[in-house]
Amino acid sequence: MRRLAWLACLVTLAASVPQPGYAQNLILTESEISAALSHGPWPPPGKNDPSNRMSGNSAAISLGRKLFFSSKLSADGTLSCASCHQPDNGFTDGLPQAMGHARGDRNTQSLFNQKHQRWFGWDGRNDNLWAQSLRPIVRSDEMALPVADLGTALSGTNFSDPYSRLFGPAHSHTKEQNLVNVGKLLAAYVETLETGKTPFDRFRDALESGDMVSAATYPEAAQRGFRIFAGKGKCNFCHTGPLFSNGEFHDAGVPYFVTADRVDEGRHGGIKSLMRSPFTLDGPYSDDLNKTGAWKTRQLVRSHNNFGTFRVPGLRNVELTAPYMHNGSLATLEDVVHHYSSIDLERLHADGELILQPLGLTESESGDLTTFLQSLTETEN
Ligand code: HEC
Ligand code: HEC
Repeated sequence: MRRLAWLACLVTLAASVPQPGYAQNLILTESEISAALSHGPWPPPGKNDPSNRMSGNSAAISLGRKLFFSSKLSADGTLSCASCHQPDNGFTDGLPQAMGHARGDRNTQSLFNQKHQRWFGWDGRNDNLWAQSLRPIVRSDEMALPVADLGTALSGTNFSDPYSRLFGPAHSHTKEQNLVNVGKLLAAYVETLETGKTPFDRFRDALESGDMVSAATYPEAAQRGFRIFAGKGKCNFCHTGPLFSNGEFHDAGVPYFVTADRVDEGRHGGIKSLMRSPFTLDGPYSDDLNKTGAWKTRQLVRSHNNFGTFRVPGLRNVELTAPYMHNGSLATLEDVVHHYSSIDLERLHADGELILQPLGLTESESGDLTTFLQSLTETEN
């Protein structure tokens, strides 16, 4: 109640007080301000991953970081995780589809903010970060390392001592256990990659604390863009909360044909892999005896509705991670906005996505929505 009264007061203030010295104004209504508040605060509290006993361990993070940048984990010594997840490129590669030992079908995902995720991969084929992190090492189209060679890779002078201190010597474990251990080290590092505050966060925090002068410095075009995002665009139906993602799987009208006769099953295939995987929260390699979160995986049932659905991407730093969508088919944020503005309803194959309708945005509305999306990029101040 107090919050509502406070908001009402804010809105009255915003409407009535001119902001001397500021070219901008606060144009959002009370309900739009509530919607803005729901996308923060940032960052949300994070805790260590109970399924990974290396989570938050500084020696593991440091070794995980070295492994991430090391090409020793690939079959021919030419690829590292950072070949595709490039730090200067928002931890992506700028390509429509990833290029490892062979071309993949999918766009390389960014590695920011993994700590707050529930499912991993575009299709959610893993329910934890260490399983997702060990996968590329052995996949034939990514780093293609035979599992048997992992012991040799670890015996390099840089790795063997710190590895032994954390897990005991590599030769005392099975091949599969070494693979899991490496996944856990990589995950301990990847978890530390978190985006910083954005202009939108500063706007949101100013609204929450009642600092109207700061709030009014957030550009009006971005505010108009947010109005579309949370209003007629219904974008925040799926792009919710501090991450701008509900973490679940939807069909956003992106074609799921890989070639004329082959489709990307999306979540349908993801659930199939998850059910067969030994590397789940419910499996023998999880360090969490309480099996926190495993019930959600146990409950999964594959249905026709999962076909061609993909995980809703978070939108923080989205400006840095072009091209877009699971298949990298849209080159720029302008193209994404155009996609939603003129969405082809015939292309929506999963049932229940009736929320999406062609928005028919004008040129200036499209520009505003793009400006809002760009304001989700971290900046120094
Ligand atoms: C050949 C390029 C390539 C390499 C090398 C690569 N990745 Fe990826 N990565 C991808 C692609 C493509 C995806 C999306 C996978 C999918 O949905 O099928 C991805 C997804 C991920 C995700 C899931 C992100 C999310 O939001 O769910 C994580 C975590 C990840 N990679 C970590 C790693 C680690 C750790 C390594 C090194 C061991 C690595 N990757 C090596 C291309 C690559
Ligand atoms: C029904 C849920 C839903 C709604 C509503 C929705 N999106 Fe999405 N969005 C998704 C999904 C799912 C994807 C990934 C689709 C794919 O790759 O096939 C996506 C992808 C994106 C991407 C690309 C991100 C990346 O990293 O590739 C952007 C940007 C985006 N949406 C912005 C918006 C905007 C702006 C709106 C409103 C006009 C909107 N979305 C409405 C579910 C939704």
